[in-house]
Amino acid sequence: MPTFQSIFSPSDSRQRQENFEAYWEFSQRHSGQILEAQKDLTTKRDLLAGFQREAVRSRKPLADPEKFYRNYVKMRDDPRSLDRKTLLLTCIYKFARHEWVGISGAWDAIPSMAEAKKTTERISRYHLCEEFCHVRLFHEMFRTFHLDKVEWVPLGPWMQKVYRIFPKVPESLMSPPAFVSELMGMTFYLELDRLFDDVFADEPEARDRLRALLHEIMVDELAHIGQRRNFIGAVGIRAARRMVRPMITAFFKDIPEAKYLLDIPRMVREGLEFDYSVMRPELIERSWVPSYCRTEPEIASPRLAGA
Ligand SMILES: [Fe+2]
Ligand SMILES: [Fe+2]
Repeated sequence: MPTFQSIFSPSDSRQRQENFEAYWEFSQRHSGQILEAQKDLTTKRDLLAGFQREAVRSRKPLADPEKFYRNYVKMRDDPRSLDRKTLLLTCIYKFARHEWVGISGAWDAIPSMAEAKKTTERISRYHLCEEFCHVRLFHEMFRTFHLDKVEWVPLGPWMQKVYRIFPKVPESLMSPPAFVSELMGMTFYLELDRLFDDVFADEPEARDRLRALLHEIMVDELAHIGQRRNFIGAVGIRAARRMVRPMITAFFKDIPEAKYLLDIPRMVREGLEFDYSVMRPELIERSWVPSYCRTEPEIASPRLAGA
């Protein structure tokens, strides 16, 4: 079994070039062929179809589904007046909505697969398709709780502009925050994974389904962390480390549910100390880790062993 090191471990440009090729090979094996017109991927599409074919629905509907619908896009009530299930689901929506707006803006700004010349450009296009698949998996989480009327509502014009400009910023400036946003996503998913047990304790089947959907997202996101890290050189990675705390704190300050559900200091800590040890081994096994964050066990050569 390999052991893992900090995501902030140093790397040189030759290693990073090799890792891009390795990642590109991994991701196609993992998610299948790109279906660009549908912003989809063949293996992911089949996976979602499988979840939908064997749909799981919570035994009891939410206490007051209208409360979810009134607060999911924008928190209108006092968050403390929402039960924990509703609060967690509206929180998940708000996070996923940012993802959806971000990827929708980026989709129009980056080269299509036909236009992509470099491996990194192909990776970026393919990466966005994986993110669109995540939005579909999030959507299935809501349906698990009979929330069939969820819509993906654009953010205000100002925020949309920010997300549209972001992909056009030069790579060296954009890479550290793009990497940290993937890392931040993972700290959120780790919190969700823990919260599911507590919040959905009386809905074991629905909880297990939510977790299965979440784990599919986490396997991809774990690989995205390594992939985005791979865009960054020595200076950028130090800058990225300094962005972890302010980015996580600022992002979740904007989500009113966060302070009632999430342990933000723990999320910051897990981001800063990210060396894969917080991840379930079965997720790492299905995912991808850059070579410079991995130490393969030494295999004794027969000659040495016999000497
Ligand atoms: Fe994502
Ligand atoms: Fe991602």
